[in-house]
Amino acid sequence: MLPAADGSGGDFLDSRLWAQMLRTCSVQLEACGYAPVWLPLAEETALFSRGLGDSSDVVQKEMYTFTDRGNRSLTLRPEGTAGAARAFVEHRVGQRATGVHRWYYAGPMFRAERPQKGRYRQFYQLGAECFGAPAGLADVDMLCMLQQLCAAWGLRDVQIELNSLGDAASRAAYRDALHAFARPRRAQMCANCQARLEHNVLRLLDCKNAACRAQLAEAPEIGASWTPPAADEFARVQALLQQMEVPFVHRPRLVRGLDYYTGLIFEFVEAPQRGDEVGLGAQSTILGGGRYDRLVEELGGPSTPAVGFSAGLERIALLLCAQQQQQQQQQAQAASCDLLLVPLDVPCQLQALRLAQQLRAVGCKVEVDVMGVNANLKALLRRADRLGHRFALVLGSEEQKSGRGQLKNLRQRRSDEIVLRPEALATALEAP
Ligand code: HAM
Repeated sequence: MLPAADGSGGDFLDSRLWAQMLRTCSVQLEACGYAPVWLPLAEETALFSRGLGDSSDVVQKEMYTFTDRGNRSLTLRPEGTAGAARAFVEHRVGQRATGVHRWYYAGPMFRAERPQKGRYRQFYQLGAECFGAPAGLADVDMLCMLQQLCAAWGLRDVQIELNSLGDAASRAAYRDALHAFARPRRAQMCANCQARLEHNVLRLLDCKNAACRAQLAEAPEIGASWTPPAADEFARVQALLQQMEVPFVHRPRLVRGLDYYTGLIFEFVEAPQRGDEVGLGAQSTILGGGRYDRLVEELGGPSTPAVGFSAGLERIALLLCAQQQQQQQQQAQAASCDLLLVPLDVPCQLQALRLAQQLRAVGCKVEVDVMGVNANLKALLRRADRLGHRFALVLGSEEQKSGRGQLKNLRQRRSDEIVLRPEALATALEAP
């Protein structure tokens, strides 16, 4: 994060924007009963390989792992959930006080990924974990909270995408079904997917490779493998969201990159109708999360259902800046004119007003400079350019005498001589 260079706030690394994002999330999350928690930056490597899954991409290729002075293998945290669950177990939080425990955290995470817009090796997450609440109400509560948080950040056009991985029986049945479908297509898949087929078949659905996507176009969907209780649970969440008027899309092929998930999973993505050029491009997921009912127990704690999310703060800042730029462009477009007329002396002011009226009568958008004859011409032209005006015409005694002027094309940065008659000007303004 950097102090704003120009005070415009248009830079996604602007420290004031970040401070504001963090303040907003503290207010929103604390209003929902979440308390801040500070977690270590490094944990034992085994926590992540067990917690996130040995075959997950994060564990396989993205961890920053090192040996400390005591010859222990440590890893810079790639995410916060495993550390939060470890702390929950180690401090016997569930045993010391029964009920629901809601924690939130913000800070740097580390993944050795190929950097690109919205994807960094050190990035900042805001996350929250809700320990102890069963599926259903707690999930809807979290999604409603996140919808409000996005609105409080000022994010527009965010789409909520949901799916359910079902219960253990649903997942086992689906793994078998997907494996049976994909196995005969193995040779046509990328090397990564060939490995996923053996170790983590659900991740096949997340491959961006066009050939793999084509191979899986007809793959079965997990919904076909849900047990009746799993299907009911997901239907209940969807019904509650509808009643709460929280819009969402069910994405039957949504999977998540970490292995601890059980049941409901979700992502908030930049809505697809926004053009890539203004938004996040390929890294369009702002936040992701879901239920992980077995992680605490797997780490040695009591059976504790849980749900959580994490949001990438760079992506949120990028999107807020893109939105701001888009808004500025729209405002500029609304203010832009076909022609700026600049009269340099009093007699020319009348000529400018007349010309403007005649041109407006035939549908041209014309601004007359009304600041008087002492206007700074350079500054006027710069402003016209900034507002997106297309042409400018300066009217002085020379022009009045000759009946001709120089029509400045502000976009193409050239001038053409023109007869100062409304018909000739109107025709010239029609030029692209
Ligand atoms: P995740 O989907 O791996 O989930 O990451 C959550 C968010 O972090 C992503 O949606 C994205 O905005 C951001 N993010 C991830 N990797 C990068 C990166 N390399 N550069 C920039 N931003 C990134 C988790 O981390 C889970 N712990 C979420 C969770 C919490 N599930 C349950 N509780």
